[in-house]
Amino acid sequence: MTERQTGDVSKYWSPTARSIEPYTPGEQPRDRRYIKLNTNESPYPPAPAVLEAIGRAADESLRLYPDPECEDFRTTVGRYFGLQGDQVFPGNGSDELLAFAYFAFFDPDAAEPILFPDITYSFFPVYASLFRIPFERVPLREDFSIPLEPFCRPNGGIVLANPNAPTGMCLSIDAVRSILEGNGNRVVIVDEAYIDFGGDTAAGLVPEFPNLLVIHTLSKSRSLAGLRVAYALGQAELIEGINRIKNSINSYTLDRLALAGATAAMKEESYYREMRGKITATRERVTGALVDMGFTVVPSRANFIFTSHPTEPAGSLFSSLRELGILVRYFNLPRIDNHLRVTIGTDAEMDAFLAALKRLV
Ligand SMILES: Cc1ncc(COP(=O)(O)O)c(C=O)c1O
Repeated sequence: MTERQTGDVSKYWSPTARSIEPYTPGEQPRDRRYIKLNTNESPYPPAPAVLEAIGRAADESLRLYPDPECEDFRTTVGRYFGLQGDQVFPGNGSDELLAFAYFAFFDPDAAEPILFPDITYSFFPVYASLFRIPFERVPLREDFSIPLEPFCRPNGGIVLANPNAPTGMCLSIDAVRSILEGNGNRVVIVDEAYIDFGGDTAAGLVPEFPNLLVIHTLSKSRSLAGLRVAYALGQAELIEGINRIKNSINSYTLDRLALAGATAAMKEESYYREMRGKITATRERVTGALVDMGFTVVPSRANFIFTSHPTEPAGSLFSSLRELGILVRYFNLPRIDNHLRVTIGTDAEMDAFLAALKRLV
């Protein structure tokens, strides 16, 4: 009989596992039905052709490994952006891509830290800590806009979310260009998870800038958070750097169903354009309604809004909304602990959200 394990299991953990502070994803509750406005998923279903493609792929061929090169998907994405297949790197969600990119391009022994805004996607510092890459947080301006000058001083690389999360604010393409020009010797990662909701993508700058890596996800504007697919765009040499990391960890990051669904999704432009149009129209309507109720709303180019009320603390609004069956996201962090991040749902969901707020403020 084996002896039952008792005591501190963390004694088996590596120093890294002991010391890291992992990212906390927004909750995916199972206790009751919520109006779920907390993880920036799309409220609309994937295009019918996507579900059909996944259905067709669910056959006996699942006994075989998927294409490790993801050839069809890369060609389809390349065509979409007017790039070559070798300028596309597919990944199992942008979180994985970001991790690979940090590993591929940032140096733990560099004299200078990598830079990202103080208020941004909370995974950025997590990867830096995991890979022991020195980092520095650049303070956003008071209005949450991103200052350019502090990103053009000596550094070990730059990571930006554009539009930024959780603010939803967007840098212009000229601003991205000036950051790229100011950092010729360093990789600049632009995470464009929300770009389809109103920003200008930097994808067109890829042929011009060998130091640019743009990351897109199918989780938001293509309604496929459950499939876990994203891609990076960059010049072939940069992409090869990420491939070296991927092929040292997991050759098959995308399974057959994900490849089939994602490839189909990149071809369903008119369906997704319509869904994005609905989401952005709802965003503008809800923004107006919140302003009428006395809320401040940060101008958003994403599928969420970042909002605060002059007298009602965000933390208590978050808890009260939760009790009423509405989940939003609250970050108890410096500078943003009086804001709520609210994903744009369907019109009916947002009406319920506004009605609940009216009861609370
Ligand atoms: C800025 C940003 N990047 C990346 C992600 C993760 O995307 P994915 O689902 O592709 O891992 C998110 C998700 O919330 C995000 O807000």
